[in-house]
Amino acid sequence: PTGRTILITGGAGFIGSHLADALVADNDVRVLDNLTSGERANVPDDATLIEGDLRDDATLERATDGVDLIFHKAALVSVQGSVEAPQTSHEINVDATLEVLEAAREEDARVVLASSAAIYGHPERVPIREGDAKTPSSPYGLDKLSIDHYARQYHDLYGLETVALRYFNAYGPGQTAGDYSGVISIFCEQALRDEPITVHGDGEQTRDFVFVDDIVQANLEAATTDRVGTAYNVGTGTSVTVRDLAETIADVTDSGSEIAHTEGRTGDIRHSEADITTARTALGYEPTVSLRDGLERTVAWL
Ligand code: UD1
Repeated sequence: PTGRTILITGGAGFIGSHLADALVADNDVRVLDNLTSGERANVPDDATLIEGDLRDDATLERATDGVDLIFHKAALVSVQGSVEAPQTSHEINVDATLEVLEAAREEDARVVLASSAAIYGHPERVPIREGDAKTPSSPYGLDKLSIDHYARQYHDLYGLETVALRYFNAYGPGQTAGDYSGVISIFCEQALRDEPITVHGDGEQTRDFVFVDDIVQANLEAATTDRVGTAYNVGTGTSVTVRDLAETIADVTDSGSEIAHTEGRTGDIRHSEADITTARTALGYEPTVSLRDGLERTVAWL
């Protein structure tokens, strides 16, 4: 997109800030973020930061006034946190999204939302297709399924242009540890400190790790596609075992770390891999960053 007035909610966070970087040169970009997990320093200089909460009507109104495109990335992303506090997860991940969708109706703005592979729960088969069964195994997954459906409904009922992107395991520079951290940040930090790399269980579980630049690409395509009112898997279409991941990270970091098998994680999903045929065909999405390249770029940032 060029010459557009764009709002990125959660634009100081991991994915939102990379998206802001990609859009500022050619668009008028606003970022709405309450900075609980996002950081001011992530927001590009040429974007306008509105520091505040989505759930505050006046703030949301100011942030959405005159926009023609909204990337809704603000969320509570901790699966564990959602298990501990399902109502809070629902308020922030579902109720606040409805506020964003309503504001978008007001402005007749397109909305690109962050959905998640978590909506599939324990998949029946891999690679996972968009139409496969959805039995989320956490409140977080249920909340994402809910907004994924709302996005489609707002299109069907009100003609709003919406696209939901179902991210698989996102990683890259800017993904910080905090109290919520993906396996790649954990393993990289362990490897860089020459501490044991803690593989849960037998390490034969698989994941589809997608580098943040590819996620940004999918978002940019979603912003201009005419195939709206639907949802797309955003992964790479390939997966690796957690054990292979640990070995690759040890290699990339030139680490002397041992691989230590710890107890398997309760409820851990065994296999996850995206079928990205729909995104390829409808959006022209094509992931370009190999796991090794992505890991090198992530380690260089750490
Ligand atoms: C990820 C997402 C989650 C999303 C879900 C959708 C992250 C951080 N989480 O969960 O938001 O809902 O996909 O399917 O991206 N592991 C280890 N050792 C560790 C940490 C993790 O072996 O120290 C293993 C886990 O047991 C798991 C794999 O690595 O098998 C990935 O774990 P994690 O990064 O937490 O992501 P998911 O559980 O796939």
